[in-house]
Amino acid sequence: MHSKGRINGLSDDGLGILETNGRPIYVPFAYPGDVVSVKKTRKRFGRILAVDFELLEPSPLRINPKCPHFGRCGGCIWQAMKYEHQLKLKAELFERITGTSAPIKGSPKIWKFRNVSNFIVTASGTGLKEYGNPLGVVNLSECPVFSNETPGYLRAFRNFLAETGLRPWNLKRKIGDVHYLQVREGKFTGEVMVNLIAHLEPFGDVIETFRDYFSSADSIYWSLKRDKRDDPRGEPKLVGGEPFIRERIADVLYLIHPNSFFQTNSYALKLLLKAVERFVEGERVLDLYSGVGTFGVYLAKKGFTVEGVEINPFAVEMANKNAKLNDANALFKVGKAEETPIRRYDTVIVDPPRKGLKETGKLLVTSKIQTIVYVSCNPKAFKLDYENYLRETYRVTEAVLIDMFPHTAHVEAVIKLERK
Ligand SMILES: C[S@@+](CC[C@H](N)C(=O)[O-])C[C@H]1O[C@@H](n2cnc3c(N)ncnc32)[C@H](O)[C@@H]1O
Repeated sequence: MHSKGRINGLSDDGLGILETNGRPIYVPFAYPGDVVSVKKTRKRFGRILAVDFELLEPSPLRINPKCPHFGRCGGCIWQAMKYEHQLKLKAELFERITGTSAPIKGSPKIWKFRNVSNFIVTASGTGLKEYGNPLGVVNLSECPVFSNETPGYLRAFRNFLAETGLRPWNLKRKIGDVHYLQVREGKFTGEVMVNLIAHLEPFGDVIETFRDYFSSADSIYWSLKRDKRDDPRGEPKLVGGEPFIRERIADVLYLIHPNSFFQTNSYALKLLLKAVERFVEGERVLDLYSGVGTFGVYLAKKGFTVEGVEINPFAVEMANKNAKLNDANALFKVGKAEETPIRRYDTVIVDPPRKGLKETGKLLVTSKIQTIVYVSCNPKAFKLDYENYLRETYRVTEAVLIDMFPHTAHVEAVIKLERK
């Protein structure tokens, strides 16, 4: 099937839309203004997705992508779009989805900004997943959004694999020894953590060999993965160096551990923290869904009195460690956001997982809280939370978008809500 035409719109997830006589075709890696000829399609999640297309006429939004893997790798579907247009389109998509218009702040760096990369290890290569193909892997030579050192990390890892004879993971049959190589960099401290996620315990000479190949890393982990799920999570065991690496954002030091989430763009994180701080009213702050205390510790250092609630006990332990490390007046507790008594706070910050607030929305409505600062990486979930719960008693008074994810269609929103 061949369909030709001009891309004249974008889907909410950033794919070019080609209107045909029948149903629209969604074209990843194509932008408004491109004229394309779609060569091959397949159905995915109820949509017709282009899997191969020829670019007949480039859109004025285009530039040459920096990465040789652009067009296959699922990491960066907007890398061939000029950055100023990425920002403009993100703000437009946000407004279209939520009905809220907000200015957008670009990432201070659009290359080498990611502080973590999870390279999947398979017989067809070590790298990142192919766009739209859960069984396809791009055998990476470099990754310009992660680090200049990527080729070095990958070379060391491939030599390690060849020397030890460990088997890469087979995505189809779900067997193999090594599943992921995770590398994290503290961009402002220069510290590096390497974490091998494998289906066998570290043993004998193999540990020594792994340590030798990554002797320049500050922290070396081997994580035993007992399940067959395709994610970079296991039970980490320190096999070399320090248990944590550190990242410094705006004078706050954060500890990073293999099992803890940390915001992935170290440069734009400073903008995110400042945006949250600007929207906070009063002195007493509740940081709900506090994770490792990223917002809470920063605000406590700025003089606010902070309490945090988070469901994951390990994240809470990390958050309290971060508070102590920074001499910050913040206390984090294990708990469910939807069951947290909300009293005596001037502002509640919420940064829920992708599914949004749900029940916590109800709780906020019945509280007497004056100001809510809603941090969201999923505009659809924010819209639902606002329409289903918050709108009853709160109105949006200000919002700002921070581009934590250059070259993708994702954006982080910080929204201030005040009681009517
Ligand atoms: C988007 S992350 C927020 C991370 C944090 N603000 C940060 O920047 O490090 C969402 C967090 O919510 C936590 N979480 C998920 N469900 C929760 C619940 N019902 N109650 C409290 N925390 C929850 C997750 O463990 C995760 O740490």
